Amino acid sequence: MLGPAILAASRSDKMRRIVSAAPVTKPVVNRFIPGETVGQVIPIVEELTRKGLEVTLDVVGEDITAVEQSYAARDAYLELIERLKELELGETVEMSVKLSMFGQALEGGHELALANVRPVVEAAAAIGTTVTLDAEDHTTLDSMFAIHEELRRDFPQTGCVIQAYLFRTEADARRLAASGSRVRIVKGAYKEPAEVAYQDKAEIDKAYVRIMKILMEGEGYPMIGSHDPRLIAIAQELGRQAGRKLDEYEFQMLYGIRSEEHLRLAAEGHRMRVYTAYGTDWYGYFMRRLAEKPANLLFFLRSMITK
Ligand code: FDA
Repeated sequence: MLGPAILAASRSDKMRRIVSAAPVTKPVVNRFIPGETVGQVIPIVEELTRKGLEVTLDVVGEDITAVEQSYAARDAYLELIERLKELELGETVEMSVKLSMFGQALEGGHELALANVRPVVEAAAAIGTTVTLDAEDHTTLDSMFAIHEELRRDFPQTGCVIQAYLFRTEADARRLAASGSRVRIVKGAYKEPAEVAYQDKAEIDKAYVRIMKILMEGEGYPMIGSHDPRLIAIAQELGRQAGRKLDEYEFQMLYGIRSEEHLRLAAEGHRMRVYTAYGTDWYGYFMRRLAEKPANLLFFLRSMITK
């Protein structure tokens, strides 16, 4: 019951001001978002890759309101790529982007987001890595998939995300699997209406399994984005049944969540990528992590009381 309320709060400016200003917020935020600057996140990348993990880096930010912010988002990724170049880690470290941070919701936003993301994808390719387009709320997805298709003409490695809770996703998975895409499947983190999305957890899990099967049997590269032990075990079985080698798909989890599981899967020989978010505009990302596990909210509230 708490989850939808927290997700509603994640879009509220008033709540953003209250939560961001609370003195105890920072230590709780740091569990999920381990830095605010490139300088702070690079040592984390080095630590994760030393342990045999791969990384996808997300500069936090979304739902911008001015064109200048979209240029700043592009530049933040370009600055990151400059630093990654020095590490020479190639596709071990890729990037995830939210098109709303690149201006997608502004007037003429589709073209603006494409114009902003293209140089990032180009710069990533120049250092031997790639970019994955995150999935945001369902109203943004036609534009996201069109941008993905456009980028793939020159950069076929560009990835995208699909969300199991949406009714449309099985059809999207079939299309993307046939075209040989890199596709991350996740359950879905936004508050979506019953007209477009399953509301029941068991229904979402069943859809997730159907979609994994489509991806594993298809031509593309499946990226299994979940912390759910049951779905991870099913993914391994579906990978085996589809005759995929361990490096022909990968697991992905969020930084700060089930970290021991990251290491266990990597030790088993799997590619395991840790989605690591950093930056100052962490509110939306942080609130979605609270909504996924109400115990996180209790921990957050308790820290406010005991401070
Ligand atoms: P589920 O929520 O059932 O959790 C399974 C178990 O994992 C829980 O019991 C708990 O132990 C642990 N867990 C999960 N979330 C936790 C949390 N926040 N704090 C502590 N423990 C937690 N969504 C989206 O809409 N668009 C996107 O682009 C992405 N991108 C993305 C990338 C990657 C790498 C991951 C792993 C996830 C996303 N997501 C996402 C988020 C996704 O949609 C979903 O909300 C979360 O992954 C939680 O779902 P699980 O599959 O982990 O299962």
